[in-house]
Amino acid sequence: MEERRGQRIIMLALPFTGHLNPMLDLARILHHRGFSITILHSSFRFPDPSRHPHFTFRIMHHNNEGKEDKDPLSQSKVAAMDLFALVRVIKQSYAEPFRQALAAEVSRRETVCCLVTDALWGTYTEVAEEELGVRRLMLRAISAVSFRAFAAFPLLRAKGYLPIQDSTLDDPVIELPPLKVKDLPRIEAKDPEELYSIMSDMMEGIKSSSGVIWNAFEELERPQLMDLNRTFQVPFFSIGPLHKHCEDLPSMKKNNEITDWLDKQDPKSVVYASFGSVVAIEAKVFLEIAWGLRNSKQPFLWVVRPGLVRGSGWIEALPSGFMEDIGHQGKIVKWSNQLEVLAHPAVGAFWTHCGWNSAMESICEGVPMICTPCQTDQLVNARYIVDVWRVGIMLEKRKMDQSEIEQVLRSAIIYKGAEMSETCLAWKEKADNCLRKGGSSSNSLDKLVTHVLSFVS
Ligand code: UDX
Repeated sequence: MEERRGQRIIMLALPFTGHLNPMLDLARILHHRGFSITILHSSFRFPDPSRHPHFTFRIMHHNNEGKEDKDPLSQSKVAAMDLFALVRVIKQSYAEPFRQALAAEVSRRETVCCLVTDALWGTYTEVAEEELGVRRLMLRAISAVSFRAFAAFPLLRAKGYLPIQDSTLDDPVIELPPLKVKDLPRIEAKDPEELYSIMSDMMEGIKSSSGVIWNAFEELERPQLMDLNRTFQVPFFSIGPLHKHCEDLPSMKKNNEITDWLDKQDPKSVVYASFGSVVAIEAKVFLEIAWGLRNSKQPFLWVVRPGLVRGSGWIEALPSGFMEDIGHQGKIVKWSNQLEVLAHPAVGAFWTHCGWNSAMESICEGVPMICTPCQTDQLVNARYIVDVWRVGIMLEKRKMDQSEIEQVLRSAIIYKGAEMSETCLAWKEKADNCLRKGGSSSNSLDKLVTHVLSFVS
C-alpha cells in the first residue's frame, strides 16, 4: 500500500447494489494507492459504514425526509416507481444536499484531489467544478458494449428503431452489429422518455468531465472503448475487473452454510441461479423457474431475493411440498456471497440476468453463463456473452417455460458447458493477466493515479 497522506478523493455513490459495489471496489483500489476516501451517500439505503472502516462516510439528507406526504422517497412512493423514475427522484432530491456536503468536504483542511461520481448523476455534479473548482471523474460501471448502445440513442431514434415497437424482433440493428432489435436497452416504465432523458443527461455529464473510469478490460471490449473514446474525447481508464484488484482485502462475510453445501456437490455440477438486486418477476415465471430447476435434476443454488417475486415476500408462491420434494438437490437462499460462489469448483453454470457485475464476475471465474436478460444494458450484455465472447447460451425470458428451462440447464452443464469451458478459461486468463504488472488494466490504473495527482500539482 502506498502512502499519500492528506490527499483525498470524494466519491458520490448511487444507492443501488449494482452501482455501489463497483464504487466501493474502486474506493478500495484508490485507498490502496494511498488516497484518503470520503463516500458521499444518500440517507436513502445508506450502507453499513462499519463494513468499510478505511473510508469516511458522509450521509446526505434531503429536505422532506420522513414527512410521509411530502417525502418523494417514502416507502409507498418508491414502491410505485419504476427504476428510472426512482433514479430521477434520487437525483432531484439530493442535488442540493450533495452541493452542501461537497462544499463542507472541500472546506476541511485536506487537499481534495477530485470527485469520482457514478456516471448516472450526469450533469448534477457539474457544480463541483463550477462552484468549487473540484475536477470530476465519472465511474461507468456497466459494459462499454452496452454504453455504446445508450450513446447511440439519438441515432436509433432518428432511424426509427426507438421507441421499440416490437421487442421480439430478430431484425439486425445495422448500425450496431451484432445487436438485434430485441437487444436494444428498454425498461418497463410508465414513461419511456425517462430512460432517454437520464441517458442523455449522463452523456452530457461525461462530455464535461475530466475522464471516465470503466469497469472494463481492454482485451474484452477494445473496439467499443476506442469507438467511444473518439466520440467523447475525454481520457478513458479501463481498469477492470474492479473486484479482482481487491481480492486480498476483506469485503464480504463468508457464507459457511452455502460453502458447506457446495462442498458436497460434484465438480462443475451445480447451476447457480441469481438475478441481481433489481429485477422483479411475476409469480408465474417464478414457478416455471422452480419446476425447471427441479426437473433438470441438476443440483442448484438459487438466490431468491426478497422482492424478486412481484407481490410476494419471499418463496410463498412455491407449491406446498416443493422444498421437501427437491430435498438435497437444491438450495434456496435470500442472498449469497456471489464472488465466493462463482469461485467454487462445484459451480458448473451461472444462470444470470446479465447485469454487468454478474457478467464480469462470471467471466473472471471462467464460469459459463445461461443468459436471461430482463432490461436495459442486460440485453446488450447477453448478446455479446453469447455471440461474441462465446461464454454463454441464451434462455430468453419471454420464451421460458419449465421444459425449455430443463433442457437448457441440462445442456449448459452436460454438453455446452464442456464446449464453452476452453473459451471461458481463455477469458479468465486474460482477465487475470490484465491486472498483472504491465497488463492493460494495471497500466491504466497507473495512468489514472497520475491523472488524479495532476489536478492538484
Ligand atoms: C444493476 C442493473 O440491474 C444492471 O443491469 C447493471 O448492469 C448494473 O446495475 P444488478 O441488477 O444488481 O445491477 O446486477 P449486477 O450488475 O449483476 O450486480 C449485482 C451485484 O450483487 C454483483 O456484484 C453480485 O456479486 C452481487 N450479488 C448478487 C451478491 O453478492 N449476492 C447475490 O446473491 C446476488
